[in-house]
Amino acid sequence: MEREQWSSMAGFILASIGSAVGIGNIWRFPYVVGANGGGAFLIPYLISVLLFGLPLMILEFAIGRSAATSVVSTFQSIRQRFAFLGLAIVAVVTLILGYYLVIASWVLAYALFFVLNRPVEFGAFTDSYLPLIFYLISGLAVFVTVRSGVREGIERSSRFLIPILIVILLILVVVSLTEPGAGEGIRFYLSPDYSRLTDPTVWIAAFGQAFFSLSVGMGILLTYGSYLRGGSLFKSASIIAAADMLIAVLAGLMIFPLVFTAGLDPAAGVNLVFVTLPSAFADIQFGMLLGTLFFTMLFVAALTSAISMLEVPVATMIDTYGYSRRRATLLVFIAVMLIGLPSALSYTALDLAFFGTPVLDLADYVFGTIGLIVAGLILSVVGGWFVGRSRICAEIGGCGWQQTVYMALIRYCVPAVLLITLAGSFFLVTG
Ligand code: PFF
Repeated sequence: MEREQWSSMAGFILASIGSAVGIGNIWRFPYVVGANGGGAFLIPYLISVLLFGLPLMILEFAIGRSAATSVVSTFQSIRQRFAFLGLAIVAVVTLILGYYLVIASWVLAYALFFVLNRPVEFGAFTDSYLPLIFYLISGLAVFVTVRSGVREGIERSSRFLIPILIVILLILVVVSLTEPGAGEGIRFYLSPDYSRLTDPTVWIAAFGQAFFSLSVGMGILLTYGSYLRGGSLFKSASIIAAADMLIAVLAGLMIFPLVFTAGLDPAAGVNLVFVTLPSAFADIQFGMLLGTLFFTMLFVAALTSAISMLEVPVATMIDTYGYSRRRATLLVFIAVMLIGLPSALSYTALDLAFFGTPVLDLADYVFGTIGLIVAGLILSVVGGWFVGRSRICAEIGGCGWQQTVYMALIRYCVPAVLLITLAGSFFLVTG
């Protein structure tokens, strides 16, 4: 059977934006900025994106497009014995998907609560078994999309959903900026504290955030690149990274004015989205409508990212193990739902925890932080050192000085930064 392809470059770019723009942009970015020097944080963030996110993104696209197959088969084509490294990457993304879906399902539930104008307190919601139903619904939405294929499922849904996301975001930004707390919110979010730039943890936070937000290093972009023929990778990657960053910055511009208008403290983590924002919406005019829009947008963002994650193991089963897309999707779907179940249960009355840490938080740290960095390291080292310069140059428009600089970034800068981030992530938790 002929390999699937995107119907156009625009479809490919939209699907990649769908992957990149997720919970990380709308929820994580704003509070990471607020906690790490406000406006000043944008400097390390921009440097991280340009020097390290973008090169890695282009590398993944280039390898994927030249191999025209998914992660494990690509690794086998580089060196037969690298298959297990490819499998490790596929495992990490599958494990991340498990808990990512749990968060996505909470978002979906909240969207519905706001539509029905029946706010539910977060603790009461998670204590019930309602989250499990939403977990199943979110999983099914991702499953159905991926099962429909690259063009009919992934590309089509992105073409439809990404414009919706952008329109909702713009509406929310405009409304938030006219709220009374806008000035205070923006000051909290963006007032630059340049003294923080000498703090290495701020730089580690920037690298980690750029990496997570762009969905690089997970084989997702490699897989998406394998469905692409022709076109400039540099241009596409720049558009994707710019869109990702813009959406993240705009998300902060809408969140903090709302929080400050309601006179609340900007919290971090789960509480910001599921406790602080809902009570802000309850307090302001047209709050129910705004809440509905916000949670719908966040769900759309999470959905398109989850779709891209599911495609990685599915494409691997198709390309490496010869499964049909239908069977592959079904099997992976069942596996992912089981993998995510302990995370889904960790906030219910069952309180599944490991040494006092809820399984979901643990999964976020072990897979979503450490696993993600290790996967990125594997990809950058294998891609930079074993693929062959000429093969990469052929994909990125020749071997001039720009490409020499690019290869140096990939070979030395990216792995070095990932190692430092890895060490920092251990240190931040244990230190
Ligand atoms: N980039 C997505 C976000 O910002 O939410 C999340 C993500 C997707 C992370 C895929 C990791 C990943 F493999």
